Amino acid sequence: MALLWRALLLVGSCVSAVQAWPEGDSEDVDVMPQPLHIPQEGHLMVLSAAGLTQMLNQTRFLLVLFYDPSSKRSRSLAAELGKAVEIVGKGKNGVGFGKVDIVVEKELRQEFDVQKPPELKLFFEGNRLAPISCKGVVESAALVVWLRRQISEKVFLFTDIHQVAEFVKARPLVIIGFFQDLEEEVAELFYDVIKDFPELPFGVMLISNAIGRFHVTLDSVLVFKKGRIESRQELINDSTNKLVLNQVIRQHLTGFVIEYNAEVSERSFPGEGQLGICGWGVTRVLVLQSKDLIYELHIRNHMLLFASKSCKSFGAIMQHYKLALKEFHNKLTYAVLCFF
Ligand SMILES: *[C@@H]1O[C@H](CO)[C@@H](O)[C@H](O)[C@H]1NC(C)=O
Ligand SMILES: *[C@@H]1O[C@H](CO)[C@@H](O)[C@H](O)[C@H]1NC(C)=O
Repeated sequence: MALLWRALLLVGSCVSAVQAWPEGDSEDVDVMPQPLHIPQEGHLMVLSAAGLTQMLNQTRFLLVLFYDPSSKRSRSLAAELGKAVEIVGKGKNGVGFGKVDIVVEKELRQEFDVQKPPELKLFFEGNRLAPISCKGVVESAALVVWLRRQISEKVFLFTDIHQVAEFVKARPLVIIGFFQDLEEEVAELFYDVIKDFPELPFGVMLISNAIGRFHVTLDSVLVFKKGRIESRQELINDSTNKLVLNQVIRQHLTGFVIEYNAEVSERSFPGEGQLGICGWGVTRVLVLQSKDLIYELHIRNHMLLFASKSCKSFGAIMQHYKLALKEFHNKLTYAVLCFF
């Protein structure tokens, strides 16, 4: 609870610069390192060495442009990447977009061996040793296609049950598809659906390799939480498989803080609603958009946090807010963060 109040206080401090901290209540703040404020430019995070380290820690898929601002090709790729962010949806969980100015960040240039900027690299699960290079893609829609393909290719292929057991035990949530044949239609559907959910780890396994261990005989998805089977769903009806699979996955996105922004909402709800909150004009549409998603997820209780992403303490607000949510997990709240 204390964390929640702290997150709210931080929001307050964004609105009015004179917000004071409560006396003698700062111990747990000291324990937690304050996150860096990472500036944004054209929808991309401007990453320094420390910023890159922080974002690698927080983002499953981090797409980074190493660029030279004096080159036209660099600037144009930065602009296309910015458009790609809009297509994917700003603030989508599990994926981040950044740029590194290699003229300034010489050490990063050296570490990632950037020979001919612009170079685009995709980092997966914080691993800075082996980023995937994106070559020859220069247009926003094509960048998104490339990114989605990478996401679906990062599905873990399991061949024996011990691998599965270890993998699911080490992670809070894993969704695994068990199929008769990994190239059949329903498996293809699985790969196709998961490319839109970079925030969750997925796996696939042949049913014959599971040798009865998870009691799967028909094509199914199983959701594992901390190593235990949380739920299972058979995928046996071609006309409903896609819907069912989407539902299974979406049900497990509730632990995330979802960000909204004015453009996305306004596109979805032109001219709707007047919930105006004094002085914060755009929030009305944000609320509507969030509400819609909440209905889609069938969640009764939810909490909205409004904060500005350009505020210096945004990072700290998010950190406290997310920590606070952990305390409420499965109890009360579903939280949506709106920024503008
Ligand atoms: C991120 O940093 C935290 C705290 O420094 C650490 O506990 C955690 O393991 C890191 N996560 C990743 C994916 O590197
Ligand atoms: C598959 O789902 C559709 C739509 O719900 C339904 O009409 C049909 O009977 C189902 N088929 C089977 C074999 O269950």
